[in-house]
Amino acid sequence: MKSLNYERANAETSVFGSEEMLNPAPTDKIPQHPTTPEIAYQMVKDETFPQTQPRLNLATFVTTYMDRYATKLMNEAINMNYIDETEYPRVAVMAGRCINIIANLWNSPEKAQWKAGAVAIGSSEACMLGGVAAWLRWKEKRKAQGKPTDKPNFVISSAYQVVWEKFSQLWQIEMRTVPLTFEKPTLDPEEAIKYCDENTICVVPIEGVTWTGLNDDVEALDKALDAYNKKTGYDIPIHVDAASGGYILPFLNPEVKWDFRLKWVLSISTSGHKFGLVYPGLGWVVWRDKKYLPGVMAFSVNYLGANITQVGLNFSRPAAQILGQYYQFIRLGFDGYKAIQNNCMEVTRYCHEQIGRMAPFMNYSKEVENPLFIWYMKPEYAKKAKWTLYDLQAKLQQSGWMVPAYTLPANVQDCVVMRIVVRQGMSRDMVDMLLSDIRAAVEELEQLEYPTQTRLAQDKGEKVKGKVFTHTHEGKPYKH
Ligand SMILES: Cc1ncc(COP(=O)(O)O)c(C=O)c1O
Repeated sequence: MKSLNYERANAETSVFGSEEMLNPAPTDKIPQHPTTPEIAYQMVKDETFPQTQPRLNLATFVTTYMDRYATKLMNEAINMNYIDETEYPRVAVMAGRCINIIANLWNSPEKAQWKAGAVAIGSSEACMLGGVAAWLRWKEKRKAQGKPTDKPNFVISSAYQVVWEKFSQLWQIEMRTVPLTFEKPTLDPEEAIKYCDENTICVVPIEGVTWTGLNDDVEALDKALDAYNKKTGYDIPIHVDAASGGYILPFLNPEVKWDFRLKWVLSISTSGHKFGLVYPGLGWVVWRDKKYLPGVMAFSVNYLGANITQVGLNFSRPAAQILGQYYQFIRLGFDGYKAIQNNCMEVTRYCHEQIGRMAPFMNYSKEVENPLFIWYMKPEYAKKAKWTLYDLQAKLQQSGWMVPAYTLPANVQDCVVMRIVVRQGMSRDMVDMLLSDIRAAVEELEQLEYPTQTRLAQDKGEKVKGKVFTHTHEGKPYKH
């Protein structure tokens, strides 16, 4: 673009009168000269400007709202490094208190003053730590028995979150996936047992399955594993991936046994930045007892002014999230968390019911178990429709909503669904606005004279496979 003879920006330069606003943003090379903080701020801020409004993003599980004081606390702690315990000893104490609080919410039997656990960047790191601990315990036991340790595996449903694929690839531990079916949309305990053998380091049920919002039945799995372990002499444990459910079940379904009340549950991981109500990134992992956390996973360094021992994949990491979590525990208390989670569930139930009443749609499950649910197109409607859920996703995006359409995992992958995650900040009023936008979008799509590109592509794919695969409200597979 034609530029005037600019001077280098100085305190008097107006942001939008500056040369930088005429030039492309740096993509390959660091700029030669400095600029003013106002201009640099505006350029970076503008990069994020076209993104969706975070609260209209119903695809993510991650917290996008915290109150003013939480935000103030976290902003004030923005320069703190969690690992530097000598500089910030109270952060380590707060992390320990958070671990204690979470362990007690999960009915930890551990009597020690400080429960065995670790802070993580998210559930991904927390899952890795739980998985690695299970692997190392298994390895140690096998070595003591003089048995080979080169073929470890773990068992999980095919609706695993991608972190478990990473765990499998990075540590070279075989992932055995129990396929989901429409009759059994969660991990089938008896099926899971069939995948176990002497090399199984653990079974991983999920509370709040990412793809469907349903919960695996950990109590039934524990019972099945107990019988299997008794029969075989193995001691295959359970690691619960409670990324979402870890902060829902203790508040809303305390009677459901999924946690340390169960014999074989030796570790549990969760995301503090999901229903833990803290900005990203924060995760937690807790072990049933210190004895299940292998000593080799704790590393000590002496160069930060003291001997610091830490469990984790990362070293330096932000401390602000720990302050945020501790603040939320104090600010909300048990009743406050319960009220927020309850509102999320009620809003989800309302949305679930309203979507279920719309002519083109059918909910995947009759009940919601977490503040999220999925739905799909009715088979008889899908046969005639000139559009797909991908078109609806695109239409809703025009009004700012992010509502993802996707195919279910292996074995049920022919089913295209749409998902809504209801987080703190999604009110009944906002759901009404969303529902009205969905109705308007459907009305427009129904006027189409010709099939959309995604409809054509879907039809082509189905012809190649020779079937249209969907399922009924009762969850029975159904071909036509
Ligand atoms: C079941 C499950 N496990 C693990 C993860 C990974 O969590 P994070 O994003 O906190 O690393 C997710 C994220 O959605 C999840 O749903």
